[in-house]
Amino acid sequence: MKVSVIGGTGFVGSYIVDRLIAAEHTPRLLVRQGSEGKVVQRDACEIVPGDIDDSDALKEVMSGARAMIYLPGILREFPSRGITFEAIQYQGFSNALEAARDSGIGRIILMSANGVDAGATSYQRTKHHAEELLAESDCQWTVFRPSVIFGDPRGRMEFCTQLKHQLVDPPIPAAVFFPGLNVLAAGKQEMNPVHVDNVAQAFVASVDTPASYGRIFELGGPNRVYWKDIIRTIAWASGRDGKWLLPAPAWGVRSVAKVFQRFDWFPLTADQVTLLMQGNIANASEIAGMFKIDLTPFDSKHLDYLKDPGRAIHG
Ligand SMILES: NC(=O)c1ccc[n+]([C@@H]2O[C@H](COP(=O)([O-])OP(=O)(O)OC[C@H]3O[C@@H](n4cnc5c(N)ncnc54)[C@H](OP(=O)(O)O)[C@@H]3O)[C@@H](O)[C@H]2O)c1
Repeated sequence: MKVSVIGGTGFVGSYIVDRLIAAEHTPRLLVRQGSEGKVVQRDACEIVPGDIDDSDALKEVMSGARAMIYLPGILREFPSRGITFEAIQYQGFSNALEAARDSGIGRIILMSANGVDAGATSYQRTKHHAEELLAESDCQWTVFRPSVIFGDPRGRMEFCTQLKHQLVDPPIPAAVFFPGLNVLAAGKQEMNPVHVDNVAQAFVASVDTPASYGRIFELGGPNRVYWKDIIRTIAWASGRDGKWLLPAPAWGVRSVAKVFQRFDWFPLTADQVTLLMQGNIANASEIAGMFKIDLTPFDSKHLDYLKDPGRAIHG
């Protein structure tokens, strides 16, 4: 069947497109100007140029499709350039949902994120509002809430390549944060990173799995790791074993980030520190069970791509 994919040029989207094609679906992609070169398997896709605030392009990309997957999301907003959580994660989804409904598409799959109901940041609140909008609709809907996602970024943004660039490569110790004054808890935020291809498998399997309709699924990997061990694993996989870690108070880093986060060059935002300090453990058994997915563990063996500097992103 034809499946409209919004955000199919991104990191996760590129794997979803591959899996859709392998399952003999035809992806119809909304592609922004300048992102044409990011389309994978171009000959097997139908391309519609446009943005999520362009109603004609949205109408066109929905045409003939029987399902819609919505992926756009950001970790950082730049309001002066119109890049906000509200615009991309809520309003863009609302526009796409309306266009899909007008075209008679009843099957909608939304990318959310683990922990959005905590509502502590704009990132979480706008994703949660999008989930609520979808749940109130009369669609056959499914929401996926992944933990952090790892895997070969294929030149795009991915959390391990970004951490390698920002924390592991510089010749200074890598900061690990602690809550309050509890230095002993530095870097002990727990996560279970999920492999990008497992995420893609879940999305594509759910397209025509009625048992997944009307449900929210967390997507987690099979092993739980501390943040400090994620840094160590990335260092090991990058051939930089022995990286030193430096404890830093989360409140101090958050205060500095509040001042500098409006500048592109500053590596993180206050909200990103808040999200990190929450930890990120997502249920792994539901997807493994319903979609029969053999989950890839987060370990240095599966971070081989970090050895190839050509694949690392810098930004
Ligand atoms: N990566 C993770 O660890 C992780 C974890 C949990 C949840 N998620 C969620 O998963 C989703 C995908 O993440 P990702 O890592 O694949 O992100 P990504 O690589 O940045 O991809 C985002 C996609 O959305 C598109 N997009 C952004 N703004 C748009 C706009 N205004 N109009 C049309 N398209 C727009 C991008 O298009 P361009 O190619 O033109 O930029 C790209 O195709 C996001 O919602 C994210 O919050 C990711």
